[in-house]
Amino acid sequence: MGVNFVMEKRETTIKIPEHFRILFTPEDIAARVREIADEVSKDYEGKTVHLIGVLKGAAVFLSDLMRNLTVPATYDFLSVASYGDSTESSGVVRLIKDLDDPVESRDVIIVEDIIDTGLTLKYIEELMRSRKVSSLTKCTFLDRPDRRKVQVEMDYVGFTIPDCYVVGYGLDFEQKWRQLPGIYAINQPT
Ligand code: IMP
Repeated sequence: MGVNFVMEKRETTIKIPEHFRILFTPEDIAARVREIADEVSKDYEGKTVHLIGVLKGAAVFLSDLMRNLTVPATYDFLSVASYGDSTESSGVVRLIKDLDDPVESRDVIIVEDIIDTGLTLKYIEELMRSRKVSSLTKCTFLDRPDRRKVQVEMDYVGFTIPDCYVVGYGLDFEQKWRQLPGIYAINQPT
């Protein structure tokens, strides 16, 4: 039996600085997330997907993605550090919070907010493979290929963006602006 849900809509007014430029509206995002979820649901028919979200940025995307899947899904989060509160990657990735549950023999999808240098994803991918997952794919809401330091192959990409720092929909600048329902470019060098 299928169940349809209708989420209540309401207007929100958040004051944002003038130099923020909208890249993707909440409507753009909702439509794209549905498309990715359809793709994932098709690819994983008959399976249960285990979504691994990378804190904190991917939490918003993961929760929307999961609610649009038609295959059974479980999820877990881990946290790594590479940036601190700066917009420049230090190039060093370390595990801050590990997963709660084992991933061995599970069909894992790594869910990221944005791929920049690729160092974070590379680290998590190697960590997951060392734990003998049954299968592994990688999904990111945003891809910014301009500053890649390591090669990473993505299976699902929401939007590819130019070289500008972005906030909103889970992504922050100095821990702020994660709550914005759209994606905004900040006019400053990354
Ligand atoms: P990477 O290891 O360089 O690919 O960096 C990935 C992480 O850096 C992402 O998961 C984000 O948390 C953070 N990050 C990179 N670019 C941005 C951005 O434009 N806005 C907010 N966070 C970013």
